[in-house]
Amino acid sequence: MTYFRDNIESLAGYTPGFQPARTDVVKLNTNENPWPPSPTVMEALRRLPDEKLRRYPQPMADDFRQAASEVLGISPSCIMAVNGGDDLLTIAVRSFCDQWRAMAYPTPTYSLYPVLARIQECDAVEIPFAEDFGIPEALYEVDASLVVVCNPNAPTGSFISPDELGRLAAALQDRAVLLIDEAYVDYAETNCLALTAEFDNVILLRSLSKGYSLAGLRFGYAVACQSLIEGMTKVKDSYNVDAMAIAAATAAIRDQAYFHENIEKIKAQRAILTQDLRRLGLDVRDSRANFVLARCPNGDAADLHEALARRGIYVRYFPLPHLEDKLRITVGTEAQNAALIGTLKELLRQ
Ligand SMILES: Cc1ncc(COP(=O)(O)O)c(C=O)c1O
Repeated sequence: MTYFRDNIESLAGYTPGFQPARTDVVKLNTNENPWPPSPTVMEALRRLPDEKLRRYPQPMADDFRQAASEVLGISPSCIMAVNGGDDLLTIAVRSFCDQWRAMAYPTPTYSLYPVLARIQECDAVEIPFAEDFGIPEALYEVDASLVVVCNPNAPTGSFISPDELGRLAAALQDRAVLLIDEAYVDYAETNCLALTAEFDNVILLRSLSKGYSLAGLRFGYAVACQSLIEGMTKVKDSYNVDAMAIAAATAAIRDQAYFHENIEKIKAQRAILTQDLRRLGLDVRDSRANFVLARCPNGDAADLHEALARRGIYVRYFPLPHLEDKLRITVGTEAQNAALIGTLKELLRQ
């Protein structure tokens, strides 16, 4: 006997990265930021009046919306706060997809997308990336109502230019929304913000989990034209972000100096990590995110993943087509990266 709908009963579900209980490990498996959030975030939480907890929070996170609109130089009405970027993905799939309206995305990409499609009982049209990780031609013609492009893409770290994504938005404009998942865009050189002013079918997903070191807070936001924001507001939970999260996220986005310093540190470490891995014989593409995807010598990624974990070093392994010979490694601090490289050196010698 099952109480669940057939699609839920047969669903494998999304597998989040392993969260070890021990803290004395090198944790490079879930793309968290290795440095703490801005000190202003903890200060904002300490100063939160209890009144903010007694009452319901602002339904549209007005304080955050205002702060984000000043940082981005856009109207607050084009921003919607969400309980982590994943919340926005759920809202978008519920808003635009059903049995007759498919979702489409290039693969390999974020493994949550097909899970959301299964839950919503819509088709998931998966179109493989070509070798260069540009937009696959078939995506311009795809019969879908929601097209999702993760940029920078996870887990490849590859990046598609805003011009190219603008051409896709134009091609889809009469039939589909283009959601550009920019969870990792803080680590890239440019982004697609301008497309949200130019096109009425573009939604950006932004996350405070990575660039702002706030994965534990659960906060992100959408940027889109006002009518898309208004439509998705009907679908979201009324109070989808809580009062503590609004206060913390507002403080974080207001401290742009700390944010930029943090990002530059990661980019510097990314360059060193990429070089060190290549020196060890791993095949690593240039990444525009806070992780790198590395093909292991002889393709034995599963064994290497296990051996690293036994030594307290956690990286991510996906037993999926095109990924089973690779490891996704989050860029850590200098010391964490050095520990990884030292251990890999030993393991590869054996
Ligand atoms: C590609 C991608 N999009 C969205 C998210 C959602 O991020 P969050 O819900 O932590 O904001 C993640 C998280 O890992 C991700 O990798």
